[in-house]
This record gives sequence, C-alpha cells and structure tokens, in this order.
Amino acid sequence: MSDFYITTPIYYVNDVPHIGHAYTTVAADVAARFHRLKGDRTHFLTGTDEHGQKVEQAAREHSMDPRAWTDSMIEPWRKVWTRLQISNDDFIRTTEDRHEGPAKAFLQHLYDSGEIYAGEYEGPYCVACEQFYAESELIDGNCPIHGRPVERLKEENYFFRLSNQADWLLGDYYARTPPAVRPEARLNEVIGHVRGGLQDISVSRPSLEWGIPVPWDPKHVIYVWIEALQNYITALGYPDGELFKTFWPGTHLIGKDILRFHAVIWPAMLHAAGEEPPRTVFAHGWLLVRGEKMSKTKLTGIHPDQLLDAFGVDAYRYYFLREIAFGQDGNFSWESMVARYNADLANGLGNLASRVLSMIVSYFDGVIPEPGPAAGQEGLERSVSDALPSYLEAMDAFAFHEAIDAAFGIVREANGFIVAAAPWKMAKDPAQRAQLGTVLWSAAEALRVLALLLWPVMPQACERLWAQLGIKDPLSGHLLEEAASWGRLAPGTRVSKGEALFPRIADAE
Ligand code: MSP
Repeated sequence: MSDFYITTPIYYVNDVPHIGHAYTTVAADVAARFHRLKGDRTHFLTGTDEHGQKVEQAAREHSMDPRAWTDSMIEPWRKVWTRLQISNDDFIRTTEDRHEGPAKAFLQHLYDSGEIYAGEYEGPYCVACEQFYAESELIDGNCPIHGRPVERLKEENYFFRLSNQADWLLGDYYARTPPAVRPEARLNEVIGHVRGGLQDISVSRPSLEWGIPVPWDPKHVIYVWIEALQNYITALGYPDGELFKTFWPGTHLIGKDILRFHAVIWPAMLHAAGEEPPRTVFAHGWLLVRGEKMSKTKLTGIHPDQLLDAFGVDAYRYYFLREIAFGQDGNFSWESMVARYNADLANGLGNLASRVLSMIVSYFDGVIPEPGPAAGQEGLERSVSDALPSYLEAMDAFAFHEAIDAAFGIVREANGFIVAAAPWKMAKDPAQRAQLGTVLWSAAEALRVLALLLWPVMPQACERLWAQLGIKDPLSGHLLEEAASWGRLAPGTRVSKGEALFPRIADAE
C-alpha cells in the first residue's frame, strides 16, 4: 500500500464543460477508484481556474462582475461531475482564500530568493490559451492551438529565471526512473524543447483587475497560469498542512495542450522554491471531432449531458476509456459509441450477466449452487487468474484501454465456456446436476471478479451486478487483489435477476 495523489487540470470557468474536459476528469476518477480499491491512501483533487483575462472577458460579455460570474459557473461544473460519478476528495477554486494566501507566499518566496526579477515583455499572447508565445510558434500569425489572432503585448512583467533550471530538468528530472513525464513521446517532446534553450518567463500581468495581486507590487496580478499551477499544493495546505506532508509529490493527469506548463515550468518553479517536483505528469491526447480538437471556440463542443442522456453514466465512462488508447488522440463519433455499447456492453458483459443469472434462477431456484466435479471450467479459471496481473500492470501505467481489455478477456472466455458447456442441455439430465452446479457457479464467479475489475470504470453497473449476485458487503469495501482471486463466491446466496445492465440501443436512436 502506498499514498496516491491524483489531480486533474483546474478548468476555466469561462464556459460550461464539454466532453474534452470530462475525458480528463473521468480518467483521473478511474485511477483514483482503482488505487482506493487496491488499498492505497488516495487523494483526488479537481477544481476550477477562475482568474485571468479569458474568464474576465466572459463575465463582461454577460454584463456580470467576474466574481459573480465565477460563482454562477460553479454549479454547472459540479453538476456534471456528480452526474459522471466523480469521486473527488476535494474541489479547489482559485478564488478561495485558502488558495490565494499560499499562492502569494510561494511567489514571494521565489522573489526573496532572487528567482524573480522585473523586466519588460514584448510579444504575442493568446487569451484563449492564456499563453505567451514566441513569434516562431505562431501559424500564419495565429495561435497554434486556436487558429485565431493573438494579442500583441508590450508590458512590464516580473520574470522567473526558468533558464536557470534547464540543467536540473535535463540532468535530473527527465532522467528519473520510472519516468516523471509520460508517455515516452511526451517526455521526448519536453526534452527537445528544453534542449532548444529556455527563456525566462513572465509571472505577472500589469493592470489586469481580475487576479491575485503580486504581494510585493500590487499594481500587478500574478499571471493566471503561474497561480493556477499552485492549486495542486495550495489545496493540500502548502506549506505546513498535513495533506501536503502526506500526499506531495503527486500525479498530474493533463491534456497534451498544457504539457509545457506541467512538465517544464511547474517542476522548475517547485525546484527553485526547494520543493519536490511532481512524481508523474501524464499527458493524454485530444478528443477529436471530425478530425479537429473539440472546443467551444470552434463550436465542436459537446456537453456530456447529451451523451449521458442516451447511454447512461457507466457506458459513457467505458466508451472513452476503451475506445481511445490513453495517451493518443482519438475520434469521437455517435456511431462508434453506439457500436461499442452494443457489442461490448449489451451483447458482451450485459448478456453474460443476464444469461448466468437467469439460469441460476431457472435451474437452482435463484440460489448460487455449490461447485461440484470438474465440468470444463479450468480454462475460465485460468483466464481469470491471468487477467489480474495484466490488469493491475495496465492500470498502474494509466493504460486504461489495456486494463479494460484484460478484464473483457474474461467476458469472452466466459461466454465461450457457457456455449461449450451448454447448461441448458445439462439441466435436462439429472445425472449432470452436480456438473451443472460447477458450470453456473464458475460463470457467476467470473462475474464477481468482473464486477471488481470493472468497478473503477463502471461503478454503478458493477455495484448492481454485485448486488444481483447476492453479495451483501459493499464491493468498494474489498481489497482488490485479494478479492479478485478465483474461488471466493459463496454458494447458497440468493441472486436477483433485476433489470438488464445494458439494454440494447437501436442504431437509429
Ligand atoms: N485552466 C487551464 C489548466 C490549469 S491546470 C493548473 C486549462 N483549462 S481548460 O479548461 O482550458 O482545459 C483543461 C483541460 O481540459 C486540458 O488540458 C485537457 O486536459 C482537457 N481538454 C480540453 N479539451 C480537450 C479535448 N478536446 N480533448 C481532450 N482533452 C481536452 O487549460
């Protein structure tokens, strides 16, 4: 058992969430639930990024004061996370005092130790990214991410001596094993970037009203990205809080669009301040719609509710983590979501559960039979034992698609086992009664293990399946590795068939 601290990016509240934001949060939730089920002491943080020009502009466009605007935006975000069954332990808003105070103290500390100095910035800025760019990074003079015109800034800024950290980043941080930055392609990307030379970076903006004042020069506010990154430690009660002492350094799940902030600037600032850098920064790919990064700005944003209404929360969570190799870009489409739902969930797992439970109802009055003499279940038993180590390794490595596939190996094996054993034939022959017990007990045992392995991804459906198997103590109270070993299903308990876990969806719907 160990300590596990996982975070999502904190989301800008200029608008409501879309499925791109939910992608990161669901993945972080799956990791958090997996670690809790393993018995790790786990802390899971998400929250909102509320300062900066972009949020201020959104407030003005709605003729609202930025504070009133951000307050009004919290509900829509929290609601989506509740609906998606997100089990975060904390939710930080950067407008909270518990953030502002320590964020100032952190910056003051860097200033006092000579890591921050006054200078002048001249160059492009993209408000949608809240990011300073080098001329060479623009594409046709536009922001490389948003494809829109940038602002031209010429202003007094305070600068952080990022350039001082290049040797430490290259010689120490990026050389660590296990790697701190993942997947490997992202590690290579940041190494290439840092080798290309690091410039000092702006940490303040003059004359913006909406932000945290720079403590030694309150005419400036802290540049939104700089204070936003600090949420990961202010939420833990940096510098003295117990949570900080227990859980830092942690793991940041992010999208690849914000890799440099997390894998270059953030570790560098922490190192300069004498703190530990993040243990892991894992950058996933983009959700694409018609081949482009989904975004509200480009009007391709889809609200999670649209999909939740049609598919339910379990299938929603399942789809995105199974369909896309975590780390790579992936396309979203309704067609592929319906296809996956029907093939894997309705016809695969759901059908297996309903078959096994109905046969226990029909042939054993709804009571789980004793396993008797061997009845060809050895292959299934082996597939359950083999799935566990692959599943654990994949989950630990954030390879959610592989972990799910390892569990679904059991579904395939169990469906094949039932077809081969043909319990409906055995049921007609009283001489085969004991073997029939073995077949149905084994199939139910496979379902029990599946409920455990798939719970981090599909908590509601797996808890229902668990209850349908008649198991009284709650699923999440078990320790995964111990509970997922073959042979623990108690005979004699009463199953309940209940409603189908995943009713088929007609393509036209
Ligand atoms: N506020 C900053 C993060 C500060 S963290 C200290 C920010 N916010 S954001 O709301 O614009 O986006 C946050 C994250 O949402 C992205 O990094 C990414 O994880 C996720 N995504 C937003 N759009 C996405 C896709 N189209 N696809 C996948 N993830 C996406 O940046």
